Amino acid sequence: MPPWFTDVSSLQRKESKFYSSRWMQLATIGLDKSPRVRTVVFRGWTENFEMEIYTDNRSQKSHELYLNNNVEICWLFARSRCQFRFRGNANIEMNKEIQRHWEQLSEENKAMWSWPSPGENYSVKTTKDLKFTKNKEIPSNFSLIKIEITQVDHLLLHKPIHLRKRWILKNEWIMERINP
Ligand SMILES: Cc1cc2nc3c(=O)[nH]c(=O)nc-3n(C[C@H](O)[C@H](O)[C@H](O)COP(=O)(O)O)c2cc1C
Repeated sequence: MPPWFTDVSSLQRKESKFYSSRWMQLATIGLDKSPRVRTVVFRGWTENFEMEIYTDNRSQKSHELYLNNNVEICWLFARSRCQFRFRGNANIEMNKEIQRHWEQLSEENKAMWSWPSPGENYSVKTTKDLKFTKNKEIPSNFSLIKIEITQVDHLLLHKPIHLRKRWILKNEWIMERINP
């Protein structure tokens, strides 16, 4: 288990009753090399401590990740005044493994993958045109992003002085206390 994991998972447990504690910001490198950021839902940890996120493979972030898979995640645990920033590499999975993930989604959530392509011009006349079809098959645009973490920056707003530490993966995890 990586040494930072206990800190994150204890905050996840502590704030688990707030749905927003699963919201994090995923930053990517845009196709024009400028930054892009958006909110995503944390879906879980793999057995190798990679972060799991679901997305639509037609989305802009997916195109960006195919070209450059360097990412940063900013995850704020607001009640605990604690911020984690994870750097790493994102890998997009669209193989059989996604079946288990797809099955966990509610019918309402699943329907989002049958909406028109994200980011394109809106051409739906009424919301009735957005059919909430109960898909039996996994849609080809459903994808799982797995983030392999290589650096973690942890900041805790604390009195009298804030606490900040960083873990970097260099064959093994190295931890250092740094100025806030
Ligand atoms: C609370 C919240 C949670 C979201 N969760 C996800 C998510 O898990 N996956 C996702 O692809 N988009 C999610 N979105 C939508 C993204 O923020 C973004 O608008 C969308 O994915 C298109 O981004 P892109 O054009 O950069 O690909 C969420 C938005 C909000 C407000």
